[in-house]
Amino acid sequence: MRTGADELSYEIRGIVKKADQLKALGKNITWENIGDPVQKGATLPSWIKNIISDLVQQDDSYSYCHSKGELKTREFLADRNNKLGGVQIDAEDILFFNGLGDAIGKIYQYLVPPARIIGPSPAYSTHSSSEAAHANDHPITYKLDPQNNWYPDMDDLYLKVKHNPNVVGILIINPDNPTGMVYPKSILDRFVEIAREFDLFLISDEIYINITYNGTQAFSLPQYIGDVPGIAMKGLSKELPWPGSRCGWTKFYNREKDAEFDALCTTLENSKMIEVCSTKLPQISIPEIMGDSRYEDYLEQNNRTIGKRSEIISDILGSAPGIYFNQTSGAFYNTIVFKEEVLKEGQTLAIDDPKVKILVEEWTEGSEVPLDKRFVYYLMAAKGICVVPISSFCSDLRGFRVTLLENDLDTLRKTFTTIKESIIEYLNS
Ligand SMILES: Cc1ncc(COP(=O)(O)O)c(C=O)c1O
Repeated sequence: MRTGADELSYEIRGIVKKADQLKALGKNITWENIGDPVQKGATLPSWIKNIISDLVQQDDSYSYCHSKGELKTREFLADRNNKLGGVQIDAEDILFFNGLGDAIGKIYQYLVPPARIIGPSPAYSTHSSSEAAHANDHPITYKLDPQNNWYPDMDDLYLKVKHNPNVVGILIINPDNPTGMVYPKSILDRFVEIAREFDLFLISDEIYINITYNGTQAFSLPQYIGDVPGIAMKGLSKELPWPGSRCGWTKFYNREKDAEFDALCTTLENSKMIEVCSTKLPQISIPEIMGDSRYEDYLEQNNRTIGKRSEIISDILGSAPGIYFNQTSGAFYNTIVFKEEVLKEGQTLAIDDPKVKILVEEWTEGSEVPLDKRFVYYLMAAKGICVVPISSFCSDLRGFRVTLLENDLDTLRKTFTTIKESIIEYLNS
């Protein structure tokens, strides 16, 4: 097996195998692991469903489309980009994929070895795993700081770029998964400065760009990148939300400024050509849905809902002992980190069912199990709440990721109160 293949793990789904074993023993599971709003009960408004069902009736919807993606949609998205007033693009700068996961996989796959992309830690693992698999090595990361609003440690980034000549690009995830942080403009400008100094390109994963709340706005790559080459990534999975559409796209900026960057973009286009094209139906729905006057209201309403959940979680967990807690301002995840030294071998939560107790003791046996995974297993076994350990997000920190997707506010309050009580019980055990 290729060495890098070891890096291809996805704990967000991996943890489900453990939860399924508990389910088989009769435990009810509250799913806080995966960022699928639909799985958590979100529904599309009927006007959006009507647009999609009208398209389903049209014969043309069933054909292949242009290998870069439907032209009308690319023109629509280029126009929206240009209205932001930053770097201007046209339809030819946009390339569609089968979900953003497909775009992420291809970008790293087609980077010329030994080129590396440095990305955030904790990391959304599709990026870090794909990058590491390409490099046959561990991911190269810069730190996000839980003691400073989860903002990136820009000195750490600078030094790592400076001392690693293989780094050709920097990944920004904004708003961020798994921390729910949104980067202020001053930090984004610093990314650009570093890229310019070391002749790098930027990748901005902006799948959550329109999911911000409680007064925060996120800046999109063309609004700050200037003349540096870069790729912005976007998709339908989160905002609409329509994750099963498998529809995402990239926007290329300043291709003409760097021949090697331009070659990477051309390779990505060619790779789509040999596949023929990406999913057409979601693509053709984009101008109709996002161009509809009701769309902005729909987003605002969604953001108000998530913003309210963010406040509720903050009210509950903000005062929990032994953790670093940051209230989120974008996306729909939060990462809770345990303070140094508070996690120890041997800590537990009370479990009534002896079969469940034996199972979790098997899972946590031995010192290779990271201490946050241990807590996560106990939380799931004792309380039926399934979260993801942060050590699985390419991080040395110890904590866990939750989602802000619970629709029912009473259930949300109950889940997070249980998490708070469990933290206290576990740390005092
Ligand atoms: C930051 C980020 N990028 C990309 C993706 C992948 O999205 P898609 O469903 O389009 O593959 C996700 C999904 O959770 C994500 O959180």
